[in-house]
Amino acid sequence: MPKISQKGQHMPSSPIRKLVPFAEAAEKRGTTVFYLNIGQPDIKTPQLALDAVRIHSLETIAYTRSEGSEDYRKKIAKYYEKNDIHVNHNDIIVTTGGSEALLFAFGTVMDEGDEIIIPEPFYANYNGFSTASGVKVVPVISKIEDNFALPPIEEFENLITSKTRAILICNPGNPTGYLYSEAEIKTLAEIVKKHDLFLIADEVYREFVYDDVKHFSVLQVPGLDEHAVVIDSVSKRYSMCGARIGYLVSKNKTFISTALKFAQARLSPPTLAQIASEAALETPQSYFDEVKAEYMQRRNTLMTALETIPGVKVAKPNGAFYCIVELPVKNADDFAQWLLEKFEYNNQTVMVAPAAGFYSTPGVGLNQIRIAYVLHEQSLVTAVNILKEALKVYKD
Ligand SMILES: Cc1ncc(COP(=O)(O)O)c(C=O)c1O
Repeated sequence: MPKISQKGQHMPSSPIRKLVPFAEAAEKRGTTVFYLNIGQPDIKTPQLALDAVRIHSLETIAYTRSEGSEDYRKKIAKYYEKNDIHVNHNDIIVTTGGSEALLFAFGTVMDEGDEIIIPEPFYANYNGFSTASGVKVVPVISKIEDNFALPPIEEFENLITSKTRAILICNPGNPTGYLYSEAEIKTLAEIVKKHDLFLIADEVYREFVYDDVKHFSVLQVPGLDEHAVVIDSVSKRYSMCGARIGYLVSKNKTFISTALKFAQARLSPPTLAQIASEAALETPQSYFDEVKAEYMQRRNTLMTALETIPGVKVAKPNGAFYCIVELPVKNADDFAQWLLEKFEYNNQTVMVAPAAGFYSTPGVGLNQIRIAYVLHEQSLVTAVNILKEALKVYKD
């Protein structure tokens, strides 16, 4: 057989999806599975986005400009303006999801062998994008005991080498739900200015912040224009994961003109999805207020339910719709598989994402799982109760 690349062999499989065959087998046996593993919101897509695709007048589904249609980008700039982020349409490249924005950002700022510092636990696919780009992830550990707050500056500075090109944060965080404060963002800004690095912020969950705390973007830091890059997406904001639209945003002109060359190589972001996403920008504030209230309620219900399980530790999230939960087990990977293969309670079980895949330091997070609270409250309560019953009988 012809040889598969080293890169391909090192490409990690998704910790969120790797247990899918076991869940499918459980369902085939007739067991109901509650999916707490994946951040696919059950919230309805705004009707005006669906209608826009239904009634468009295109006769040919042509390519758009590689950076996305100009009308759409002008409206995106207005969206940022409303969020106190001052950019114009030339600072924006529309991408095929936030995923492609991440790939373009990596390609634009790093060569093979370069390093990127990322507070861990982090969105597992950062590992995949790094492997695909030949880049080394240098993790800086944030801890459940500190609610996953930004690690001290010295810990970043100790990790900076001549190969470091960027710091990547996710704000609010997947998988931690941690929301960085303005002071923490400004601390990071000082580090990247001092060492002349990029600060890439994945802000795809910007709208999902709770308890009246405000999101502060890296694009709002004065004097950071050359360093700040934002990854964005319509996937979660409008519950449009399948539209595959995201954006790359920076006021650094060289960064944008270089990223545009990557965008040109793949020709265009999806045309119909841009029509839906442009319409989605008109979504009324009431939609977000309702969605936010729903997630906050779910989070509170989940926290209360988890607190009833002996030996469980959880960091309360302030944003996004995930949390990391420490379990009284040795290996959450084994436990998650056991839940699907061997356990049922009233003919029901749960699928969770083992958290070790969200770390790149070997051996860390082995007894943790990530829960996505994208299910209705009642299902969350049932699912946590199943976890509780499972932990009563599970033997490591
Ligand atoms: C933190 C984070 N960034 C980026 C993405 C990529 O999303 P998409 O490619 O759907 O925009 C996700 C998806 O779950 C995510 O959680």
